Amino acid sequence: MNFEKSQRIKRLPPYLFVELDRKKAQIQAKGVDVIDLGIGDPDLPTPDFVVDAMAKAIRKPKNHRYPSSQGSLSFRKAATTFLRRRFGLEPDPETQVCACIGSKEAIAHFPIAFVEPEDIVLVPSPGYPVYHIGTLFCGGISYFMPLLEDNSFLPDLSAIPQDVAEKARIIWLNYPNNPTSACATKEFFQEVVEFAKANQIIVCHDAAYSEMCFDGYKAPSFLETPGAMDIGIEFHSLSKTYNMTGWRIGFATGNPELIGALKQVKSNVDSGQFEAVEEAAAAALESDQSFVATMQEIYTKRRNVLVDGLLSLGIKAHRPKATFYVWIKVPKGYTSSSFSTLLLEKAGIVCTPGNGFGEPGEGYVRMALTVSEERLSEAVERLRGVL
Ligand code: MLT
Repeated sequence: MNFEKSQRIKRLPPYLFVELDRKKAQIQAKGVDVIDLGIGDPDLPTPDFVVDAMAKAIRKPKNHRYPSSQGSLSFRKAATTFLRRRFGLEPDPETQVCACIGSKEAIAHFPIAFVEPEDIVLVPSPGYPVYHIGTLFCGGISYFMPLLEDNSFLPDLSAIPQDVAEKARIIWLNYPNNPTSACATKEFFQEVVEFAKANQIIVCHDAAYSEMCFDGYKAPSFLETPGAMDIGIEFHSLSKTYNMTGWRIGFATGNPELIGALKQVKSNVDSGQFEAVEEAAAAALESDQSFVATMQEIYTKRRNVLVDGLLSLGIKAHRPKATFYVWIKVPKGYTSSSFSTLLLEKAGIVCTPGNGFGEPGEGYVRMALTVSEERLSEAVERLRGVL
């Protein structure tokens, strides 16, 4: 029997967080009390009102049958309500919203609709690994756009060679940004619309962190930008906003043709999310969002504990105004890998090496604010001991 894997699978890099979990398990097996600041997986529970909605929804026999692969109309209407209240957007729930089994799933599947083998996809680097992986699954070629500190971690669109821009089918963006925590200005989004229209490129915006904002900042939706609905699709996730990573629920919204194409792919690949999950998720989206405000306060305090602690150690840490990631320049003499290995082996702290998100992330590590203030203080003290 020939179990030779396809080229597209052979070209995949090891999945970053699977690798990180493996290393963490090795250290834990030695009895170390690990402080995990690795994957961005909220430690606090899903709000009670969402769990209660699920408990009711799970008892309804109508939810036990095949779901709609595009999501129930009531879930899509709830997403529309959220988008209207939060960003002033008015998408048609019939044609401009599609539920997804967590935004990761839709991010990986969407390119199937548009990317032919050898087509170019513009991918931010460092960036969420799935933009590149989705490109590889289609046999496409990622053109990596470096996100550099000098350019506020925004891609420099003018640095993209004209022949690359002309061949590109998709540009991926993600603001507030993972892993750098940078935020995009409305002016930058306007520049993206003009660039995309001039070069006939579809804009895919990952808005997974739109609600994780601090100090009064409110991240805009890319789709608020004039002209964005003509060329754009935006991926939203309930994972981080409502502590629902395990539930696998998100949605995409945007241009009806792009949403239609995503629905076409998904109807052939999956049969949608469990509609009981969608009912519970709708309760979250239609709520007064006071839960989100509470989480924002918690993350603000955690951020300050970690950033103040790192600064007291002379480590250059940027105080993010959004996302629950702190993007940290490694001290002189270290690489991303040597510093994260030191943290893991000598201090029992898991962080994500910046180069794991792409080569321009070399020289940085990412810490997620996914443990309590006490544990973050302890992490700082352990680090003090090691440095
Ligand atoms: C991350 O840590 O970058 C994210 O949590 C991964 C994900 O959302 O799949």
